[in-house]
Amino acid sequence: MDFVKQRPTVLVVDDEKMVLRALSRVLLSSEWDLATAESGAAALEILARQPIALIISDQRMPEMSGLELLNKVKELYPETVRIVLTGYAEMDVVVKAINQGEVYRFFTKPWNNTELIETVKTILSTWGEKKDQLSVFTDQLSRANLETVMALAEAIELKDYYTKGHCSRVRDYALRMALALNLSESFCRDLVYASLLHDCGKIGVSEATLNINGPLNGDQYREVQRHPVLGFEMTCKIEYLRPASIIIRQHHERWDGKGYPDHLKGLEISLGGRIVAVADTFDAMTSSRPYRRALGFKKAIQELLNNRGTQFDAGLVDLFVSLLVNESEAAGSREARRRLLLVGVTAEKVAELQRLLPSTGYELRAADTLAAARLLLEGVDMIICARLLQDGDGASFLTECRRLRPEIIRVMLIERQEIEALAETVTQAGLYAFMIRPLKPAEVLAMVENSFEWRRMAKALHFD
Ligand SMILES: [Fe+2]
Repeated sequence: MDFVKQRPTVLVVDDEKMVLRALSRVLLSSEWDLATAESGAAALEILARQPIALIISDQRMPEMSGLELLNKVKELYPETVRIVLTGYAEMDVVVKAINQGEVYRFFTKPWNNTELIETVKTILSTWGEKKDQLSVFTDQLSRANLETVMALAEAIELKDYYTKGHCSRVRDYALRMALALNLSESFCRDLVYASLLHDCGKIGVSEATLNINGPLNGDQYREVQRHPVLGFEMTCKIEYLRPASIIIRQHHERWDGKGYPDHLKGLEISLGGRIVAVADTFDAMTSSRPYRRALGFKKAIQELLNNRGTQFDAGLVDLFVSLLVNESEAAGSREARRRLLLVGVTAEKVAELQRLLPSTGYELRAADTLAAARLLLEGVDMIICARLLQDGDGASFLTECRRLRPEIIRVMLIERQEIEALAETVTQAGLYAFMIRPLKPAEVLAMVENSFEWRRMAKALHFD
């Protein structure tokens, strides 16, 4: 994944606006970016969003002192160089902090401008090299972390059968927005963790409630509504998931304050939380659930637009919609007819689908056996395969297709009572979805349209 390379950023923290302004004037430079915060808490929020090369903090601040802040920074972001600004009165504490390696150096107020700038330049000149060595190590770590997160995300999907593939699609959509906004690498990484795990709290919700085939009653709804807090509690204890845990907690908050669990409003909701809310809702609307059919992409987009400024951050909805529309127009102009292979579907259903799908956009092929299906694979975009056929089982066939032709979208046709037994197959065969018999042509059309849109976007993001 290529992230946007950034210049180093210097973060200046002081509760007095005048001092902050003076420091900003002195430190304005074309060699680095400058960020400011008026409290320790605000500084930590900035650090959670973007990498900071150097932090310069005032010592005397209400709520969280400079040394308390720098101690936290040392713990959470050890690669950030820490400088404290202090008065003579507190020299003892500061010297002790330097001796214990908590801060790199201190400046007394009033500071000497030239000396301050020289120090910043020296620190930042070696920062690039140090970061390269560090990045090899952190790359390995991040890969291991990502694998753990992916495994956990798959475990959640196994519990909530209907959400198969949902987490990865939310990740794709969310990341797409973050990249368009030019957000930092660390922000994107936390966003990936959070979107894959946004529903991990559902592990604490009973399976019976999650898989109810119909609308929920009050108690069941309240039980499901606990999942953002449960997810937050699970992830905030894991150090590398701490920034993601905030997003997980906030993914059901609404811009107008009517969401849950904390009823946050507007910019009180973190940017990550607002992004995942749009991505999650959009994917939920375009996927079929047991109690309602999927909306088409156009209707789902309209629904997002209807809720801009109430449920969602209006700016993010506009951005997301423009990304979807541009991508879809670009892809539409170069895409040829879509080839669908139906395996083990009755001739009657095939004929019905043939009538429904516009012949200009679709080419339908059908096979009764796996042997025949293998011969028809060339150029196929999507397979809808029954579970049992005369010459073998559909699950192994789809797993084989995943290995040989991973680009083909795979869907399995099953009976309702088979859902539970098939959880493992969904993962092994990397299914996009499964469809429950009897096959309803209109549902096939909605799913086919959505799956192709989804694939276009996954392609644009270079995933899988
Ligand atoms: Fe959720």
